[in-house]
Amino acid sequence: MNYLIGVDLGTSGTKTVLFDTAGNVMASKTVEYPLYQPHNGWAEQDPMDWWNATAVTCKSVIEESGVDPADIKGVGLSGQMHGLVMLDADNKLLRRSIIWCDQRTAKECEEITEKVGAERLIEITANPALTGFTASKILWVRNNEPDVYAKCAHILLPKDYVRFMLTGEYATEVSDASGMQLLDVPNRCWSDEVLEKLEIDKSLLAKVYESPEVTGYITPEAAALTGLKEGTPVVGGAGDNAAAAVGTGVVEDGKAFVTIGTSGVVFAHTSDISIDPKGRVHTFCCAVPGCWHVMGVTQGAGLSLKWYRDNFCTAEMETAKGMGKDPYFLMDQQAARVPIGCNKLLYLPYLMGERTPHLDPDCRGVFFGLSAIHTKYDMLRAVMEGVTFSQRDSVEVLREMGVQIDEMLACGGGGSSPLWRQMLADTFNCEVKTVVSKEGPALGVAILAGVGAGIYKSVEEGCRAVIRTNPPQAPVAENVPEYEKFYQIYRGLYPALKDSYHNLAAL
Ligand code: XUL
Repeated sequence: MNYLIGVDLGTSGTKTVLFDTAGNVMASKTVEYPLYQPHNGWAEQDPMDWWNATAVTCKSVIEESGVDPADIKGVGLSGQMHGLVMLDADNKLLRRSIIWCDQRTAKECEEITEKVGAERLIEITANPALTGFTASKILWVRNNEPDVYAKCAHILLPKDYVRFMLTGEYATEVSDASGMQLLDVPNRCWSDEVLEKLEIDKSLLAKVYESPEVTGYITPEAAALTGLKEGTPVVGGAGDNAAAAVGTGVVEDGKAFVTIGTSGVVFAHTSDISIDPKGRVHTFCCAVPGCWHVMGVTQGAGLSLKWYRDNFCTAEMETAKGMGKDPYFLMDQQAARVPIGCNKLLYLPYLMGERTPHLDPDCRGVFFGLSAIHTKYDMLRAVMEGVTFSQRDSVEVLREMGVQIDEMLACGGGGSSPLWRQMLADTFNCEVKTVVSKEGPALGVAILAGVGAGIYKSVEEGCRAVIRTNPPQAPVAENVPEYEKFYQIYRGLYPALKDSYHNLAAL
């Protein structure tokens, strides 16, 4: 019997899943770690936490399943995108990683736009300069911590640091590399032009592979720490969203998915490259060789609900603990009792600034319409609706670009809530389906590992062998116009607040 491992290095924790080749879960283990926010809008993590979590979870799934490590034919890595990991010439970490949701680099984005040119930047990297992306983080370190930059010998993305610890190779793959703003996205290779204009030495960067390609093999040291067999191949894998696409079978035109993890994403596969000239959605290489995807990102999706849970739902957390249930399950039940529109309360989920469609690191969260009649449960549902409306903004941009969406899958933590799925179906006014497996990104990269190991002939064939979908959840006809009324008001709020956000940020 053959097995595959998918490691998903998320923002709240790393989850490792051991699958058989039909996609059945043999064992799964998650280890959580902290997010450091030293200033408003800053976000950092310790790469050592990622590596320790990977080693512990690999060891645990192998032990728990009783599978012979020799039968594990490949490892795939998925991870949070954009984070900056810097190593010195001895491979020592130079600082904590500045991660995807960090917003400190507005000045560096201006520098990038000025040096490369706004239009040329979109032509090459398929995206405007964004605070979330890695290039601006590199420039921030160069501008603010020149001593650190001077010692930097290797720049890696979060999952690629874990790959380095597993295999000793400095390697990345096209989907994650697309989020660095240094890749020539149409041609799937580093852009000499962008690197020269930004004066970044190409030798700092890792070798770029396609996602299912083998990038290296488990070293003896990594074998001892993870329980994997020395010599097991590690494939490129994918950024978390490109990996979730494979894990939900979104690998051909017409297919799209919506996910609510820490961030929220609306993702559509395209076999032809399609770029929004206004840069409101990202165009990245996807994990299917030779294809791309277009995606809109909500910075604070699940992050909003977690923030609300941690600050206002401690009682529910206690009760849930006593009942042996997930607190989100109880919170869902409370939110379901509140009517659509939350008794005229709206929420803007901009806790960490926003990407789609505003591209504004300075905007922040808002409850709008708050009155003395509102309870914390109105606010809870408003958080869920606000995140859904922000994802509707992404769908609107994709529709405007003419990106075909025939089938919408829902995944991620939020996708497992029937209430949230119904909100998505009613707000997008389209059917929403789930896949039987809940393992999205981990399953996606395990499929890629299976392609690299020669178990499946292609990514599409791997998906056909493994992915099963549940019956769709249809929009409820009378809910659609109800949500629409509130969405139209939601859309007007950001433009009304834009100047005030910038004034507040400038204080
Ligand atoms: C995508 C993005 C997030 C992170 C963290 O551009 O920033 O989805 O990958 O999940």
